[in-house]
Amino acid sequence: MTVTPAEATAAANEAFGRHLGYRALHAKGTLLTGTFIATREAAALTRATHMQGEAVPATVRVSNGGGDPNVPDYVPDVRGLAVKLYLPDGSRTDIVAQTAPRFVGSTPDVFLDLLRAQGPPLTVASKFPQFLLRHPAALAGLPANLPALRPPVSYATARYYAIHAFRFLDAAGGARFVRYTFIPEAGDQRLGLRAAKARGRDYLQEEIRARIQTSRVRFALELQIAQDGDPVDDPAAQWPRNRRRVLAGILELTGLETARETGGDVLVFDPTRVVDGIELSNDPVLHFRREAYSDSIARRTEGS
Ligand code: HEM
Repeated sequence: MTVTPAEATAAANEAFGRHLGYRALHAKGTLLTGTFIATREAAALTRATHMQGEAVPATVRVSNGGGDPNVPDYVPDVRGLAVKLYLPDGSRTDIVAQTAPRFVGSTPDVFLDLLRAQGPPLTVASKFPQFLLRHPAALAGLPANLPALRPPVSYATARYYAIHAFRFLDAAGGARFVRYTFIPEAGDQRLGLRAAKARGRDYLQEEIRARIQTSRVRFALELQIAQDGDPVDDPAAQWPRNRRRVLAGILELTGLETARETGGDVLVFDPTRVVDGIELSNDPVLHFRREAYSDSIARRTEGS
């Protein structure tokens, strides 16, 4: 089945309603500022400017996965961490990650099918089991993904996975594929549904605003390094657990970002925005996302 990015954003709007001015998915979020500092190990693996160890400014958006900007934060969902890094030469690069460790399938049509099984609780109850039966990778991923949907104590207490493989090129011409994970310094902490509800509809947005004023919010960026023969174009395929893992750097969130997305400045995080020293794999989901995000921007800015 061949699906188009416009069909994916339409399916998201169908599931969550169309909310002008908001993203088709990850509609409810908070913008933050921060800094990324890479390690020497990262510099040895890629010549990319932001991986050489200089402090690089960042804009970060934490979010809930659904397309409803009014969703209570205690509803089980994936959460997003999208990072934009500003390089000294004026270019930008993005890393876009979320809390579900296993992607539901190898191609975009599986994600579209998942969107069509979303929506009001009754739709989910009737359609989600059939979705799982149609897509064995989604079923196999459930044990890892279900705990990731539990409401976190904070956006700062969840792991975030960027899913796709990227090819790192070093200064000497060496190359290898890597996958990114953001690991919270505060640990992975979750809440039961009742406890999450007691914190209120917007507890995640309020908590991160308060936390950032009083304590350090940090994530380690970890790389998992593929070996020859590991699948690099399939977002649902796992690499053997014993593949080398390297600390690539520290992302520190330092404050609230209030100046963006006004006056026509549309902020978009695009996982295909890479710079010299980092290349895209041929993963069809990764390439599909670029167009789906453009379509979502067109929809969210329409008429503005
Ligand atoms: C076929 C697969 C996918 C489709 C069609 C899709 C679609 C979308 C769309 C339409 C948006 C809103 C974009 C905007 O208006 O700026 C979005 C946002 C987002 N997506 Fe995806 N997505 C897919 C896969 C993924 C994957 C694999 C990840 C994580 C690795 C991910 C993480 C995110 C995050 C974190 C955001 C919010 C970014 C922000 O805060 O601006 N998505 N997605």
